[in-house]
Amino acid sequence: MESKKEIILPLPDDFHSHVRQGEVLAGFVQDLASQFGRALIMPNTTPPMVCASQIEQYKKEILDAAKEVNPNFEALMTFKLKPGITEEELLLMKSCGVIAGKYYPAGVTTNSEDGVSDFESVFPVIALMEKLGIVLCVHGEEPGVFCLDRESVFAEKVEILAKQFPKLKIVFEHLSTAKAVDLVKRLPSNVAATITVHHLLMSLDGVIGDALRPHHFCKPLPKRPEDLLALREAAFSGNPKFFLGTDSAPHLKEKKESCCGAAGVYSAKVAIPILVREFLAANVLDKLPDFIGGFGADFYNLPRTQKTIKLVYEPWVVPAEINGVVPLAANESLEWKLV
Ligand code: DOR
Ligand code: ZN
Repeated sequence: MESKKEIILPLPDDFHSHVRQGEVLAGFVQDLASQFGRALIMPNTTPPMVCASQIEQYKKEILDAAKEVNPNFEALMTFKLKPGITEEELLLMKSCGVIAGKYYPAGVTTNSEDGVSDFESVFPVIALMEKLGIVLCVHGEEPGVFCLDRESVFAEKVEILAKQFPKLKIVFEHLSTAKAVDLVKRLPSNVAATITVHHLLMSLDGVIGDALRPHHFCKPLPKRPEDLLALREAAFSGNPKFFLGTDSAPHLKEKKESCCGAAGVYSAKVAIPILVREFLAANVLDKLPDFIGGFGADFYNLPRTQKTIKLVYEPWVVPAEINGVVPLAANESLEWKLV
């Protein structure tokens, strides 16, 4: 039985988020900044974020949009990893607030057609990132492999990167398999991982089990029940290698409810209330503060937030649509509300 009526948590960090571009950006940024103090903004825009001047402009747009709901919101920036990026360019990017570069294997997800097709072609840039203390975030799926095996096959490459670049900080993003969880646990402390909210809630059954649920379709796909269990165990364990990166990835309703639907789950507005529910149900609420507002900051060498948020026990119904997007848990009732 739940007796708590109020929960105080650190102001959360989201170490993996998409806010898109153009007219829709402001709404998505405001949803994000209403829940999080800092967010790591992904670079899979069109055109992709590959140079300092673009990233500086993008960051400014994000902060302008965030101002209305959270003037203290911090946008932590990333660039898309490509062969040939120079040390000079990396230094410029760093000075614009870039803290990580994102490795997208070619074609595995939204706007990744221009991703990496030759693994070793990006090693020189990765070596520079290691030297300059820029984190490497990896979308760990192997192109062309059967969809449920893409992450476990790519895991070998993460292991190679960890061996070849021992001082490089690597984040294996949005884990979806027990194999990847085990690998991250086994590798040294310079390798960590993000876990999304949706990968803590469902196996592939939640996407295609009893009905086709386009708003749960995402990359990497949620996998088997045993993978789901391994992810929950990792998130609930208090191991500092695992922290929140929501991969909140808005696509307009019509792009999802389509004969060729886009991958992405929109969780920005519901992530924290759902995590409270899940951590409470697993009797590990004491592990939530580090998962949402501690371990990620530590890994990225950022100061832990001193600010807090308050949730109250006050059931509310998640809207059917937010900014033209069907959010995770749409129309469902959640018990905990951020105030
Ligand atoms: O489901 C996903 N959506 N996974 C990703 O890696 C990218 C994201 C997006 O940008 O829509
Ligand atoms: Zn993503």
